[in-house]
Amino acid sequence: MIHADQLTRTYQIGTQRIDALARMTLTIHDGERTAIIGRSGSGKSTLLNLLAGLDRPSSGTLCVNEQRLDQISRNEMAEYRLRTIGVIFQSFQLVPQRTALQNVELPLILSGVANYGRKKIATEWLTRVGLYDRRDHLPSQLSGGEQQRVAIARALVNRPKVILADEPTGNLDTQTASEIMSLLMSLCQQLGTTSVIVTHDGHVAKTCSQRQFRMTNGALAEVTADEVL
Ligand SMILES: Nc1ncnc2c1ncn2[C@@H]1O[C@H](COP(=O)(O)OP(=O)(O)OP(=O)(O)O)[C@@H](O)[C@H]1O
Ligand SMILES: [Mg+2]
Repeated sequence: MIHADQLTRTYQIGTQRIDALARMTLTIHDGERTAIIGRSGSGKSTLLNLLAGLDRPSSGTLCVNEQRLDQISRNEMAEYRLRTIGVIFQSFQLVPQRTALQNVELPLILSGVANYGRKKIATEWLTRVGLYDRRDHLPSQLSGGEQQRVAIARALVNRPKVILADEPTGNLDTQTASEIMSLLMSLCQQLGTTSVIVTHDGHVAKTCSQRQFRMTNGALAEVTADEVL
């Protein structure tokens, strides 16, 4: 479960104070597929970075999979990032000097999986995302959609509890975007993975999730069934 209560993230730049998240509340149950929409600057990435363990709250509580992210140590946070969550970015963020297969292997290396098992698991995942025949390509030798498929395989290879994605289709054309989202959603469904997808695209939000939330000035509200996105 993901639970946030009175969650606040304040940035202080000189004398200017920005409440990127302001006493926000959120509950997402295990296995739920959710989307967050909202205007630019509303605080979506700020929330995702907190959930990803890349940033810490200024105040309030944030609990993911029974771990208090507002309280855990640096080492526990590294472990959390490796095992509990998988992250997908708009700009793919693959390691440029490594092949598709090696990129998918990275989380397995970090979790100490031995060489042979690692290659096998990474290859299985590349096959699952339809890229077996591109396994030896570098990211620069792949299309945007293919790079995002590699990133999806990399995010899921350690079987995380939660997938977090910030505008995962922002750099892709409409057709590829919809293929990528259905791939990601069907994998999350098969594995029972909770997902939180940030998007500014109402159509993507509706099709990729069971529940949608709207972020407005650092506060979150669930979108009702009849609301037009
Ligand atoms: N590192 C930072 N330092 C200071 N202010 C920041 C920082 N990061 C974000 N902000 C501010 O916090 C607010 C929320 O930013 P955030 O990146 O979460 O928005 P967003 O909803 O993801 O927007 P977009 O749709 O454009 O990606 C904005 O007003 C932004 O200017
Ligand atoms: Mg953002």
